[in-house]
Amino acid sequence: MAFTIAIDGPAAAGKGTLSKGVAAHFGFGHLDTGLLYRAVGRRMLSGEDPIEAARGLMPEDLDRPDLRSPDVAQAASKVAVIGEVRAALVDFQRAFARRAGGAVLDGRDIGTVICPDAEAKLFVTASAEVRAERRYMELTGKGQIVTLDQVLADVQARDERDMNRSEAPLKPAGDAVMIDTSKLDIDTALGVAIAAIEAKMPA
Ligand code: CDP
Repeated sequence: MAFTIAIDGPAAAGKGTLSKGVAAHFGFGHLDTGLLYRAVGRRMLSGEDPIEAARGLMPEDLDRPDLRSPDVAQAASKVAVIGEVRAALVDFQRAFARRAGGAVLDGRDIGTVICPDAEAKLFVTASAEVRAERRYMELTGKGQIVTLDQVLADVQARDERDMNRSEAPLKPAGDAVMIDTSKLDIDTALGVAIAAIEAKMPA
């Protein structure tokens, strides 16, 4: 059985945590599509042409330990405005979405461009301050040296670029269920997401 769950939203909205929880709950596979853009951004920072990097992306590129850094996040959102980069990543994402056994994809354009026919679509948001605080805790928890102001600036700069690009801008699909996690803990947000998805499943 193929069943696609699209989870989109702005930077550090909690898509990753929710997606992993949803995938574990339903026994589905999970693809963090942001990692694809981060891997391309990482290769651009090493001097490669981003279009060539996207076309030649290898599975091991996704395993690099430094993909979660703020520098790589910024590079990811810069390569993500390039139409040829996005085009090179489409087939892989769509094939994953239709894998047997169900799929959760999280990103920016899953419900709008990659999987407009996804059976369930969520758009996860939170205030910029809450998102920056959560990302700050995550990064410092991993030993990275950052300030809260830097993280907030990174989140806001990426949101701005992601929402205003001409190719696949960040926006909710018309039929997405909106979940604002600003005041929800992880378990509550996960419960809301699971209930919204179950409502789309065949009885
Ligand atoms: O984890 P976080 O929300 O901070 O970012 P991410 O999901 O890893 O995405 C990093 C960057 O990749 C975003 O700022 C977007 O510019 C880009 N991206 C995209 O354009 N389309 C996607 N489907 C996923 C990510």
